Amino acid sequence: MPVIAVLGAQWGDEGKGKVVDQLAAEARMVIRFSGGDNAGHTVINAHGEFKLHLVPSGIFSQATCLIGNGVVINPARLIEEVDQLNKRGIDTSRLVISDRAHLVMPYHLLLDGLEEESRADRAIGTTKRGIGPAFTDKVARMGIRAGDLLDQKAFRYRLQSVLDYKNTILTRVYGVSPLSLEEIYGQYCQYGERLAPHIKETTTLIREALARDDYILLEGAQGALLDPDFGTYPYTTSSSPLSGGACLGAGINPKQIDRILGVFKAYCTRVGSGPMPTELHDEVGQAIRERAHEYGTTTGRPRRCGWFDAVAAAFSSQINGFTGMVITRLDVLDTLPGLKICTGYRLNGKTIDYFPASIADLEKCQPIYEELPGWQTETSHIREFARLPAEARRYVNRLEELSGCPANIICVGPSREQTIQVRPVI
Ligand code: IMP
Repeated sequence: MPVIAVLGAQWGDEGKGKVVDQLAAEARMVIRFSGGDNAGHTVINAHGEFKLHLVPSGIFSQATCLIGNGVVINPARLIEEVDQLNKRGIDTSRLVISDRAHLVMPYHLLLDGLEEESRADRAIGTTKRGIGPAFTDKVARMGIRAGDLLDQKAFRYRLQSVLDYKNTILTRVYGVSPLSLEEIYGQYCQYGERLAPHIKETTTLIREALARDDYILLEGAQGALLDPDFGTYPYTTSSSPLSGGACLGAGINPKQIDRILGVFKAYCTRVGSGPMPTELHDEVGQAIRERAHEYGTTTGRPRRCGWFDAVAAAFSSQINGFTGMVITRLDVLDTLPGLKICTGYRLNGKTIDYFPASIADLEKCQPIYEELPGWQTETSHIREFARLPAEARRYVNRLEELSGCPANIICVGPSREQTIQVRPVI
């Protein structure tokens, strides 16, 4: 059985939760490999509607659900999420937390807010979940990992040295009150006791699953254009949502991944600051936002909406190595008389077909559009590709051609059954 990565191909919020929930019905293991509780994965299934931030979207299946080493975990938020799931009758005993996963600490939350404030009009528009500061500490070798909670004495020693430094920054740079060692220590020891049964050395579990030839899903968070290397830096997140990030954040080598599914919305959205060449500031953008309820799952902020950007899509496909695409929210376009796809950019009087590294250049890029007729027919009840209106099929085919990978799945609504299987994933 295969290992399949399900990745965000745009700026996040593409609908990965729904896809993972659906594929997980047959999977034996689902691994979240990046981000933290900045993610908001919406799942609607027979159990109801859920918004997951840290728990893998496979939790409704029989699969072992693993939070990988590449995720940063706010333990308070994780416990809250687990409690909510349990209250609604969902079994979370199969949840496993990598002992290598880093923790979001109270100073990370504080610093995320203070750093954003100090950026003023250059603010990134982060989710303020402490994600950037937590990943910064990981790389600076100042992080505290889930496994550290299992040895309280060593944890206290480590926390003390890190907190001394953090309190210096908090008081001297930002002029705010220092945080209390005793409070954080006491609180995190409690979290540790609660989470201890789930915290494990996960590479062994993964090795055994691979040896059994288990079906494994790698669940991405955010999207390729928020990658710190290839996204719209510095308006990005702090961990890699790419297929390379999946290898690192789960502990699976590149040769072991069989399929890489890129999840694309049928149009583009972005939340937070940073360039987005196809953004619509008119009534069409507004219509898409309202029809699709494009508001952030984690922060409630309105998402910026725009036409499908095929330059960005081809770039995303290239750096991820997509073997197939999942196109979500096709039904959102049902009412539009005409559609546009961006096939190139005009930059400084020249036509370019690549996604520039410089955000100053990207901000100057004028999209070159190809226009296609809309279908102006309801599609949310359709379950077969051949039954889609001809204009919708043409639109999908064009997205496939321009993105350079075939469509496996098309979603025409938020629930599990509002799905068209175009080609088998496995
Ligand atoms: P951070 O990840 O909270 O540091 O935020 C950095 C940027 O990534 C901001 O523009 C956020 O809006 C964006 N971002 C982070 N997580 C998500 C997500 O799950 N969906 C969409 N955008 C996200």
